[in-house]
Amino acid sequence: MIGNDLLGIEDLEREDIQRILDTAVHMAEVSEREVKKVPTLRGRTIVNLFFESSTRTRASFEIAGKRLSADVVNFSPATSSLKKAESILDTARTLDAMDPDCVVVRHAVAGVPKRIAEVLDAPVVNAGDGAHEHPTQALLDLFTVQQEKGRLDGLSIAIVGDILHSRVARSNIYGFTKMGAEVRVAAPPPMIPPSIESLGVKASSSLREALDGADVVMALRIQSERLAGSYIPSIREYANTFGIDRAKLAYAKDDAIVMHPGPVNRGVELSHDLTDDRPSVILDQVRNGVAVRMAVLYLLTGRRPRAVAAPDEGGLVT
Ligand code: NCD
Repeated sequence: MIGNDLLGIEDLEREDIQRILDTAVHMAEVSEREVKKVPTLRGRTIVNLFFESSTRTRASFEIAGKRLSADVVNFSPATSSLKKAESILDTARTLDAMDPDCVVVRHAVAGVPKRIAEVLDAPVVNAGDGAHEHPTQALLDLFTVQQEKGRLDGLSIAIVGDILHSRVARSNIYGFTKMGAEVRVAAPPPMIPPSIESLGVKASSSLREALDGADVVMALRIQSERLAGSYIPSIREYANTFGIDRAKLAYAKDDAIVMHPGPVNRGVELSHDLTDDRPSVILDQVRNGVAVRMAVLYLLTGRRPRAVAAPDEGGLVT
């Protein structure tokens, strides 16, 4: 059973991950119906609290909640990462007083969803915190690979790009290694955190070495908003050395698939044609994101006792 919150893949056991992936299979089936809606979370309220901008993740959580018949409220306070933690917690407490059943939090600072979870009654889902974790992205990536390859155990996963600033890389490293896959990372040396190999991955500044025999090639976005110092000489040089095109993809297995969490800087991390066509599975990742988030929302809130008595139990009229 997964805990009260979903803050990171680091906290999950292999069985928890498997349970979410198995539940997502049923949720994907709902999304294939003509009427893509089930009453599972009717009467529940989900708040999307996004302090940092997002297109696909926010929309994906919103669609996931609505397909389960929950009421979904989007709350995007204008904020800067310099604002005091107190004001963030005040916002969270204010929302909590409205008795939501789940709060989905994204913030540019690592650890904020955890702080919010400490003061809220409702379960909290981390939708990305700084360079720390982005657990639902990793879960949808695991789901997509499982769908494509029929297994996770024993696969070789190459993650290429800005590992240092990537919450997607961190969550995926935890996820894939827990599920028995082997993970290699490749990046220019300043973009490889010194302690990365302690997470059980092999780091390399050679793309060819990292891709050799890989089943999955995952490119990461250059995080220009988090690049405070100078980590790469130029975008063009990065694209020449680490940008994946069909020629470089030949280092990987013949049937390797290509992934990217989006948004793609076309022509930088991936060539234009690889962004659009197989073997890239970018839109499958997006589609699977809805099913995986439905599974997470269901597992966290579906069987949680309601905090407030229903009207017919004397909750409204006295
Ligand atoms: C990622 C994110 O925001 O962490 N995108 C996403 O959730 N789809 C990756 C990124 O922004 O590079």
